[in-house]
Amino acid sequence: MTAYAVAAEGLRQRYRGGTTGLDDFDLRVPEGTVYGLLGPNGAGKTTAVRVLSTLLRFDSGRAEVAGADVVRQPGTVRERIALTGQYAAVDEILSGRQNLILFARLHRMGPREAQRRADELLDRFALVEAAGRSAGEYSGGMRRRLDLAASMIRRPDVLFLDEPTTGLDPRSRNQVWDAVRGLVADGTTVLLTTQYLDEADQLAARIAVVDSGRVVAEGTPAELKATIGADRLEVAVRDAARLADAVAVVQRVTGTEPDVDPDRRRLRAPVTDRVDALVTTVRALRDAGIAVDDVGVSQPTLDEVFLQLTGHRATTGEETR
Ligand SMILES: Nc1ncnc2c1ncn2[C@@H]1O[C@H](COP(=O)(O)OP(=O)(O)OP(=O)(O)O)[C@@H](O)[C@H]1O
Ligand SMILES: [Mg+2]
Repeated sequence: MTAYAVAAEGLRQRYRGGTTGLDDFDLRVPEGTVYGLLGPNGAGKTTAVRVLSTLLRFDSGRAEVAGADVVRQPGTVRERIALTGQYAAVDEILSGRQNLILFARLHRMGPREAQRRADELLDRFALVEAAGRSAGEYSGGMRRRLDLAASMIRRPDVLFLDEPTTGLDPRSRNQVWDAVRGLVADGTTVLLTTQYLDEADQLAARIAVVDSGRVVAEGTPAELKATIGADRLEVAVRDAARLADAVAVVQRVTGTEPDVDPDRRRLRAPVTDRVDALVTTVRALRDAGIAVDDVGVSQPTLDEVFLQLTGHRATTGEETR
């Protein structure tokens, strides 16, 4: 188990009270890549991160992180990893730059080296302009990037990011994604958890889909999407009287029987070539004189992915993208 930055086999973990955290959980994360753990609320993502980062004991199985055994060499593992959220107690009064210098000093860097490292990280995480402002005035996205920068002070071999972009706006998400890509370009391995299929798709070289404490599917985004199924064409028909005509058009264009929601006058059908399907459908609807409120192509939602992979819906009510 050495060519992998993280290698876990048959991990089982049960919380006091009997809830299963991990149930025969296997994982292999190749060095120098971003790896995504994808799953809904309660899937076991945070449990996996806490177990692998030595914060939580497990009952059986084995795990190696950054070349060290999680049970026998927890100290070595801790020296080689970082975890965001670990420094959630960023000082609100100190500036971003002062915070980073403080963390560097806590890691026993000399004053000059600490300043140099802080400036390097401010630059990398696009915080140069905000460097002198109190961290308490930072937006959610800036705060998240400061957290990331703080966890990078020591250049960890493996960085664990637990839902790094949940709650961020699209622009902040993109900034965090860029920061993560930069870290990996420098050789850090990143294990990130997410509830968002598009995030895993954008960032991760490989993805494990987690459900009830175990990995139910694993592969590259392209491999997973191939098993999960294609993009969905969606059409919202303006006039209920034309719904049947629209169904016929979509049927002809996609070669499949669309799902119909008569109440909302919406059709959904899987497509293989999203651009071609979109163009052809719009043209065919126009030729048939069918007015629409909306036409679009979307990725399957995490709910649909789950339904397909596990045969049941993600059980929590939280909104997925
Ligand atoms: N401290 C705890 N005590 C008891 N049960 C827990 C504890 N933490 C998590 N669990 C349970 O373990 C299971 C896995 O939870 P976990 O937090 O790992 O999920 P998650 O995938 O991180 O979910 P989320 O997306 O909501 O963060 C859930 O059933 C959860 O209720
Ligand atoms: Mg979690």
